[in-house]
Amino acid sequence: MATSAQGEDGEETTVWTLGKECELRLEASWENPLQVTLQAGKAEVFGTEIPVGHEFSFKGQKIAVFTWHGATIRVKGKPEVAYQESDTPMATYLNAHGILEARRQRAKESTGKEQELQGPRVLLAGPVDVGKSSISKILINYAVKKGWAPVMVDLDIGQGNLTVPGAISAVPVEAPIDILRGYPQEIPLVYQFGHTSPTENAEHYKYLVKRVAEVLDARCKASEHARCSGMVINTMGWVEGLGYTLLLDAAMTLKVDVILVIGQERLYSVLKGEQSLKGKEIVKLPKSGGVVTRDRDYRQKSRQMRIKEYFYGHEEEFMPHSQSVPIEALKAYRLLKKQSASNHALPVGQTAEHKTLTVAPMDSTKDLMHTILAVSHASTVEEIAAENVAGFIYVSDIDPINNRLTYLAPCPGPLPGKYLLGGTLKAYFE
Ligand SMILES: Nc1ncnc2c1ncn2[C@@H]1O[C@H](COP(=O)(O)OP(=O)(O)OP(=O)(O)O)[C@@H](O)[C@H]1O
Ligand SMILES: [Mg+2]
Repeated sequence: MATSAQGEDGEETTVWTLGKECELRLEASWENPLQVTLQAGKAEVFGTEIPVGHEFSFKGQKIAVFTWHGATIRVKGKPEVAYQESDTPMATYLNAHGILEARRQRAKESTGKEQELQGPRVLLAGPVDVGKSSISKILINYAVKKGWAPVMVDLDIGQGNLTVPGAISAVPVEAPIDILRGYPQEIPLVYQFGHTSPTENAEHYKYLVKRVAEVLDARCKASEHARCSGMVINTMGWVEGLGYTLLLDAAMTLKVDVILVIGQERLYSVLKGEQSLKGKEIVKLPKSGGVVTRDRDYRQKSRQMRIKEYFYGHEEEFMPHSQSVPIEALKAYRLLKKQSASNHALPVGQTAEHKTLTVAPMDSTKDLMHTILAVSHASTVEEIAAENVAGFIYVSDIDPINNRLTYLAPCPGPLPGKYLLGGTLKAYFE
């Protein structure tokens, strides 16, 4: 039920009364933000509870405010879309959480025994726009509510759920995910891929997944809480051809034991028949009718907003620093597949994966303009593929006549590493 009125400030205001297990689906354009307040009852946005009386504002996003037991919600502003729905798959998602919770308990009970069990390592698989990222949030939030600190692993280089797009990253989540800002700002484990599609360098993508797995395995060995909490792995929506190969590779490399397949029967049945996945729990989950299909333009815009947010903050609360240096002062590299390596390329290392990758300097006049560069923790150029990164800078201007390059960094002072790693990801903002 909804009652609409015009507030004193002339703003359109609608009060929605939601029944049990209903959700209010809201879409705000980039131009018209919406202000949402929970007036009574209990409600959550992708598993994050909203405090009663607290107003939050959002734009350019599509969300669902869900209630298990009923709620009254006030929405101020002009929504692009607003409707309530009682047919949601939330009960099924809660069951999935139950499966994971049982695994966490079993892992805890096995502590100190001869064979200690792992908490759930769950991978969300499915085509684009089926709700993978939203379900990841729900599952993580529900685990956090139970006192766990699951690791969110983001393999979706197209969206950048944790940091800028083009990176593979992981963060333990200890508190409910912020409805507006998303996951914690400090992401401890970030590896730069530098592209929004794995086709650019699939070997590098696989190599980075392996690096993340090694670090997380070590963390699980060192901490009982980390081992039992497990991980939630969010993937790209590419489930055929190379996309499928990379999905399987990630499931094996990260030692996944539960695969949740959303919104595609075909993928579910293919994964079920996969010999290499024998023994893993593969569960089919329905897609929510609320999931919104995003077109190319919207995705492109979200990606750019995500990058801008990295430097400026969600509400422009950060103060990035612009710095001008001689062009040759920045040592920027990119990783190439061996067959396309140029004469200037160096071998990356001696391991099997390394042999397919080489590192080459980026051409400052051709490649660097508007590029997002990762500041690597590598201490030699050969280590650049294997090391995680401290953060990112953005090349905002190149002046070849005066031999100057201007970049934007999140904070002033020298960069925390000597070597920079770039790819094809570009950003366009002032
Ligand atoms: N129940 C819902 N009601 C309203 N909007 C929703 C709901 N679930 C998801 N959305 C929105 O739909 C969009 C797509 O969902 P989501 O990002 O979770 O899908 P995805 O499968 O991760 O997509 P991609 O493959 O692009 O990563 C998002 O904007 C999300 O906020
Ligand atoms: Mg997603």
